[in-house]
Amino acid sequence: IQTQVGIIGAGPAGLTLALWLKKHGIKSVIIEGKSREYVEARVRAGLLEQNTVDIFEQLGVVDRLKKEGQEHHGVYLSFNGERVRVPFGDLTGGRNITIYGQQEVVKDLTNAWLEGGETLLFEAPASKIVDFDTQNPKIYFEQNGEEGILECDFVAACDGFHGIGRKTLPKDVYKEFTVTYPFSWLGILAYVGPSTDELIYAYHERGFALHSMRSDKVSRLYIQVSNDDSVENWSDEEIWNELAIRLGTSGWELKRGPIFEKSITPMRSYFIDNMQSGRLFLAGDAAHIVPPTGGKGLNLAIADVKHLVDGLVDHYHNKNEEGLKNYSKIALKRIWRAQDFSNFMTTLFHKSDEHGSFTYQLQKAKFDYIKTSKAYATTIAENYVGLPF
Ligand code: FAD
Ligand code: DHB
Repeated sequence: IQTQVGIIGAGPAGLTLALWLKKHGIKSVIIEGKSREYVEARVRAGLLEQNTVDIFEQLGVVDRLKKEGQEHHGVYLSFNGERVRVPFGDLTGGRNITIYGQQEVVKDLTNAWLEGGETLLFEAPASKIVDFDTQNPKIYFEQNGEEGILECDFVAACDGFHGIGRKTLPKDVYKEFTVTYPFSWLGILAYVGPSTDELIYAYHERGFALHSMRSDKVSRLYIQVSNDDSVENWSDEEIWNELAIRLGTSGWELKRGPIFEKSITPMRSYFIDNMQSGRLFLAGDAAHIVPPTGGKGLNLAIADVKHLVDGLVDHYHNKNEEGLKNYSKIALKRIWRAQDFSNFMTTLFHKSDEHGSFTYQLQKAKFDYIKTSKAYATTIAENYVGLPF
């Protein structure tokens, strides 16, 4: 197979890249290791920044998102049962977030790509990337027990944290940074309408809790658990009890319903300080992971894609190599910002030290400051909805 941009991975990054390049008349082919059913059923993020929704709008893939997604104009932050609302409108000049499940995003993008008659090979894992230091890189992949070769001008590795893109990047072109947090998230999906109109992030002496949602009938909630915990240790009733305590505030009640998804996600910050070598470019989780508090992971993947599209359009249409040459440098500014914000939200709301300790007092001081300072609330709001490009 031959194309202009060979894309590895049909997650949010790979699919968005393909559709956006197409809009600019640049051809691409996507190869995905897993089956379509598997990818479309994978439950992950749910928070879309204004930027991300604007990009999907430009790509013409928001019909269902506009109907089924929920636009939120503020967020509740809770500390030991005391709740404050941070409104976005006043603080960010009218920018918002939208709650819409990542697997729905993936379905919409996949449909748009395939309905346009384009190529996306499922169950076709890439095995190696070669010749990316020449003008004719190649991606080797397997499908139905046979080896295939995708020849292209550029390789976009949008293949997530465990993909081959980062492993292929020569070790001497980047430094890596990792922080592992001493806690994980137990996340659930439940058939019950949300008990809140906007998301609630809560610190509690028993640990963090987050109330999110997917629709009028489905809620998404998370609690902090220890790294060695497992879903088998938690009955549905224990999860609901814990959520009710951690999210609780006077006069408020948590609605409960049947839980149909339970999983544990470890929390990690990871990034590399260079995301390219020759004609190989990394985007999204392939190059960085943020802890999920604040919902930046998916949005950051889409932001990388924006910068990569800019560079490729400059190359193909304007005969200008600056955008591609500076891709990592440009993308990393936003990545650093998101790393800082995700780390801030994570350390503010998780229990990492004794209730009442020095660390706890700093957390409480920050929370009290949000209540009284418009300036402080503004920095949270503008990072949360996503800074403009
Ligand atoms: P991915 O979505 O990982 O897509 C990469 C794709 O590449 C996958 O489809 C994979 O199958 C494919 N692939 C991998 N290797 C190969 C190969 N060799 N050949 C071909 N294809 C390959 N973010 C939040 O903001 N909030 C959350 O609550 C949240 N929860 C998460 C829970 C989990 C369990 C995980 C793993 C992530 C979560 N994230 C969350 C992060 C968010 O989902 C990611 O940031 C987002 O998926 C990044 O998109 P991506 O396209 O870069 O990578
Ligand atoms: C969701 C996940 C997040 O990590 C977050 O900060 C907000 C919402 C969610 O899955 O809905």
